[in-house]
Amino acid sequence: MDRFKIEGGRRLEGTVQISGAKNAALPAMAAALLTSGTVRLQNIPHVRDIITMAKLLAHMRCRVESPDIPPSEFIIQAEDVSHAEAPYELVKTMRASVLTLGPLVARFGYARVSLPGGCSIGARPIDLHIQALEKLGATISVEHGYVEARAERLRGTTFRFPKITVTGTENILTAAVLAEGETVLENCALEPEIADLAELLVKMGAEIEGAGTPTIRVQGVEKLHGATHAVIPDRIEAGTFLVAGAITGGELLLTDCEPGHLTAIIGKLKECGVEIECEGNGSLRVRAAKKLVAADVNTEEYPGFATDMQAQFMALATQAHGVSHIRETIFENRFLHASEMMRMGANITIDGNLAVVTGPTPLSGAPVTASDLRASAGLVLAGLVADNTTWIDRVYHIDRGYEQIEVKLRDVGARIERVTASS
Ligand code: EPZ
Repeated sequence: MDRFKIEGGRRLEGTVQISGAKNAALPAMAAALLTSGTVRLQNIPHVRDIITMAKLLAHMRCRVESPDIPPSEFIIQAEDVSHAEAPYELVKTMRASVLTLGPLVARFGYARVSLPGGCSIGARPIDLHIQALEKLGATISVEHGYVEARAERLRGTTFRFPKITVTGTENILTAAVLAEGETVLENCALEPEIADLAELLVKMGAEIEGAGTPTIRVQGVEKLHGATHAVIPDRIEAGTFLVAGAITGGELLLTDCEPGHLTAIIGKLKECGVEIECEGNGSLRVRAAKKLVAADVNTEEYPGFATDMQAQFMALATQAHGVSHIRETIFENRFLHASEMMRMGANITIDGNLAVVTGPTPLSGAPVTASDLRASAGLVLAGLVADNTTWIDRVYHIDRGYEQIEVKLRDVGARIERVTASS
């Protein structure tokens, strides 16, 4: 298993190119199941979850090609899908495999997808995906750890999500586009990845209004066709590098990002004293604060402060003057990084879903273990300011969602290397 070795204390300076959004690319890849035409997806990040989704589509007998090395474009054609099944072996490594459920049942009238089960950040059920598909007329059975969905043709309906869910909205949107008649989805997630998915679906011939607002209206069509689409930039990767610049006392220019998707994150960092400016053409400049000050954060659905930035913000809070209250409202167990940061000297107390961080505290390099994707990013950021050496175990978590993070950090001055098990 690979580990990262970080020698902290270096000021980061230079330019970082932001990759395409993993969480936009995954539903876009699943949406290719909706047509026998060729779907060409661009700006796809080269991360492990994307490789898993490509494997899953290939398992279903889709043609999946990628002309570049490393791949940033995927050509997917789901002409013959003889295996409408997402097996446990793949779903257990990536929950987003569940995004194939909606498209499969909508186009083929049958889908068998392993239940994802819990993960380190919470129970993460998919009951709302199932409820909505049932409302669209699918017959669902959950047996032997698999969800089986059948429908001759899905029928348009009105469904109000009792709770906001990102992949739930995506799954049901991709089912409704081929349903008969009109579907109205209420209390939908507003994340930019939803609007991006809708843009792809419209290019494929779908009729959708209101994506990116709480109410999405879909007029079902008989058939969709191929399309070409470049996915949006990764707002969480961009947010992570904003913190990297701020926490190391550095100055970074981020290119190829979408500042409009980062409003809450930029607002919170500015509240801490960090200087951030838009430089046009999707570029953001971050300069460290003259004096970094504490700020309180509640994670919220978009457009609020993203739960996917909570661990990175916690790393920053350890270096800020004062007391930061960080409340996690989306997932019930997303503070596993806190105890690792405490082992590095951070002053953090946890009370249920509230973390209280008192700073600044000098961090000292230590061996730590990554527990999930964003927790790993938080630990990398902590390692960048810690003295001596920080070893981060289980970096396969970070490889799921950050494209070559150690290379991008090294290019702007960090001392970080990947140590493979055999070296
Ligand atoms: C998406 O997960 C993202 N994943 C997550 O990114 C992100 O943390 C999360 O949204 C919140 O922003 C992808 O886009 C692939 P939810 P998702 O359904 O869709 C509960 C990362 O690090 N819920 O919006 O699975 C659920 O348990 C990750 O890149 C139900 O109760 O999240 C949670 O408490 C991790 N029943 C809340 O809703 C359901 O049927 C929000 O979850 C569905 C969800």
